[in-house]
Amino acid sequence: MEKQRYPESWYPLCYSDELKMGKLLLLEVFDGELILFRSEEGTPGVVSRHCPHMGSDLSNGTIVKGRLQCPFHHRAYCIKGKCSNIPGSKKRQLGPHLKTFPLKEYFGIIFLYFGSRPKFDFPTFPRVKEKAVFSKALRKKLNTPYSSLLFNGFDTHHLTCIHNREIVSPVKMESLSPFHLGADYSMKVLVERFYDVAVKFFGIKVVDVHLDCWGGNFLIITNKKSLDNILITSVPVNARKSQFFLTTISEDRGTGLLGSFFQKLRLKMTSFLGLAFLRPDELIVEQMKPELRALDPEMDYTVVKFWEYWNSLPKNVL
Ligand code: FES
Ligand SMILES: [Fe+2]
Repeated sequence: MEKQRYPESWYPLCYSDELKMGKLLLLEVFDGELILFRSEEGTPGVVSRHCPHMGSDLSNGTIVKGRLQCPFHHRAYCIKGKCSNIPGSKKRQLGPHLKTFPLKEYFGIIFLYFGSRPKFDFPTFPRVKEKAVFSKALRKKLNTPYSSLLFNGFDTHHLTCIHNREIVSPVKMESLSPFHLGADYSMKVLVERFYDVAVKFFGIKVVDVHLDCWGGNFLIITNKKSLDNILITSVPVNARKSQFFLTTISEDRGTGLLGSFFQKLRLKMTSFLGLAFLRPDELIVEQMKPELRALDPEMDYTVVKFWEYWNSLPKNVL
């Protein structure tokens, strides 16, 4: 079977606290071909699943002093994928090594850059200047091919049909770098669903939205009247399934115990309402098969622009 190609970007793998010291974690995402573990210092590393010696499955291995030991001939690999020990061999050259990818830990999530060296830094957030505070990310699995999931945020046409919001200003889209696509639009809240009631409670009748999309899968949503950013970031599980994380991030204002309690509560509420807003999308994108050539150049302008951007991103394979 032909290997899937995915854009070079930052992808969420799992919660940080799922990766325990001294234990390996076989990831479900990226076709189950990656293994995570921590060094003795606690730094996370990700490596390919099969031993380059005779191809044994390293998910049956063990972590010994922060290194992944193959269950077959006990070669050991560090978090950089380097073979650091061949039992019984006096050779100085210890290869071959395992494939690895750059990792970062932010917002209680471990992110992987899907390339050998990042072509863009981990994105910054418009609402965070110095120190971030965030809600625990919500994770959702979908029976949706990864590529069908991506353009949803840019399909402003469906906001009226599915989310009962009316676009009230022309959508402005801007290519901010080869990896960074921005969009601005305003939408009127039409129907009072429970999450709309919460929005209206704060006196908001028109929601002004700014989108920052990085690498095709990393979407930062800024409501101009809010102090927070919503992050929705997705990752392929396999050719037919995907997974996304949603979290709300803000500047840590450090206003004492009570202040930070209410700030965290607000972030949690925003994430919860964000997920509720996306619920109608879950059914719609199930097993969807979009065709670029069928799109209407005027009505689907924002989706066409998104696909052009997505197609131009550098892609990689495992
Ligand atoms: S197959 Fe892994 S050390 Fe031989
Ligand atoms: Fe949607």
